[in-house]
Amino acid sequence: MPNTPDLECRAISKSFDDFKAVKDVSFSVPQGTFFSILGPSGCGKTTLLRMIAGFQKPTGGDLLIKGNSVLEVPPNKRPVSMVFQHLALFPMMNIGANVGFGLRQRGVNKTDIKKQVERVLERVGLGGVADRPVSSLSGGQKQRVAIARCMVLEPDVLLLDEPLGALDLKLREHMKIELKQLQSEFNTTFVYITHDQSEALVMSDQIAVMNHGVFEQVGTAKELYYEPATAFVAGFVGEANRLRATFKSAEGGLLQMVTPEGRALGGVDAGQGLSPGETVEVFVRPEAVRLSRNAADVAQMGNTGQGRVENILFNGANSQLILRDQATGAEMNMALPQTGEFRDLERGAEIAFGWDPQQTRVYRSKGNAHGK
Ligand SMILES: Nc1ncnc2c1ncn2[C@@H]1O[C@H](COP(=O)(O)OP(=O)(O)O)[C@@H](O)[C@H]1O
Ligand SMILES: [Mg+2]
Repeated sequence: MPNTPDLECRAISKSFDDFKAVKDVSFSVPQGTFFSILGPSGCGKTTLLRMIAGFQKPTGGDLLIKGNSVLEVPPNKRPVSMVFQHLALFPMMNIGANVGFGLRQRGVNKTDIKKQVERVLERVGLGGVADRPVSSLSGGQKQRVAIARCMVLEPDVLLLDEPLGALDLKLREHMKIELKQLQSEFNTTFVYITHDQSEALVMSDQIAVMNHGVFEQVGTAKELYYEPATAFVAGFVGEANRLRATFKSAEGGLLQMVTPEGRALGGVDAGQGLSPGETVEVFVRPEAVRLSRNAADVAQMGNTGQGRVENILFNGANSQLILRDQATGAEMNMALPQTGEFRDLERGAEIAFGWDPQQTRVYRSKGNAHGK
C-alpha cells in the first residue's frame, strides 16, 4: 500500500526497573522522510532507537515497519540498519570488507558482494577505494563509509544515533549538508537522533522534540521555531528570552499581561488555553526585538522598553547584545544587526527596544496552581 508509513510506533514504552525512559511514544514516518528526534542528553533517544532496531525489547506498545509488527523479529531480520555515534568501522578490514560485511553475513556470493560494494561506494562519492585501509580515510569519509555499509543492505529505514557527535565543528557543519544530500539521493527513510538543534533544523523534513521520555511536539523546523507548543520546545529550539508575568485579560486574540514590576506586555497564547490570573512565561526570540537609540522609533511596536547595554558579543552576522531591562531588571538577549547603525554602540549606553506582541508566545508557568 502506497500510504503505509515506513515506520510506525504505537504507544511504545520502556522501563528500567521503575524508571520510565520512554513513555507511550506514538509517531509515524512516511517513506523517504528525514525524521529527527531532538532532545537533551538522557531524554530517551537512544533507548527509543534501540527498540526500533531490535536491540532492546519494549515494555509496552507496538512497532511496525511497512505496516508489519516487528516486535517478534530479531534485529538481524528487521529491515532496518543503524549507524552508531562512533561509526564502529572495523580497523583491521579494508574499506570494501567493511562495506560488504553485512552482505557476507547474509551469505551473498563473492562476485555479487564486490559489485554491490563498488556500486554503493560510488554512490557516496568514494568509488575505487575498496582496497584501501580504513585508516586512510578522513573523518567525513569514514562517515560516508559507515552509511554505505548500511545502505548496501537496502534497509527500509536507516537509524542514525548522533553520528556527527565525534566530529569537529567545521566538519559537522559540512556533514549536515552531505547527510541530507545522501538521504535524498537514496530516498531512504532516515530516523536521526541528536541533541543538537541546528543539525535537526537544517536536515529534517520532520522533527520530534523529546523531553523526559515523551514527544513534546512533532513538526517541521519552521513550525517548531515559529509555533512552539510548549515552553520546553520554545526554550530548546532556537534562542529565547523568558519573562514571568500574570495574565490579565484577552483582547482581540491578544493576551494582556503584566510583569511583577508592573510592565505591560502583549502576547499570543501558544495554544494552552490560559485563563486570566494565571502566572505565565512569556517568550520572545532575540531576533524579534528591534533596537533603536530613539525611543520614538519603536514606540508603536506594542511591547517596548528601555535598557542599558551590559555586554556586546561581537560575532559578525551573529552578534548579540546583552541588555539590562530598566523596568524589570531582567537581562535580555537581542540580536545586534550589523548594518553599521550600532557599530559604535558601547557598554553602558542607553537604548530603546520593542517587539511585536504577535512575536511573543505565552505558556503556563510550571509550578503554579493550574500547572500540569
Ligand atoms: N540499560 C539501562 N539500564 C538502566 N537505565 C538505562 C539503561 N539505558 C538507558 N537508561 C537510562 O534511560 C535514560 C535515557 O537514556 P538514553 O536513551 O541513552 O538517552 P539519550 O540517548 O537521549 O541520551 C537515561 O536516564 C539512562 O540513564
Ligand atoms: Mg543517546
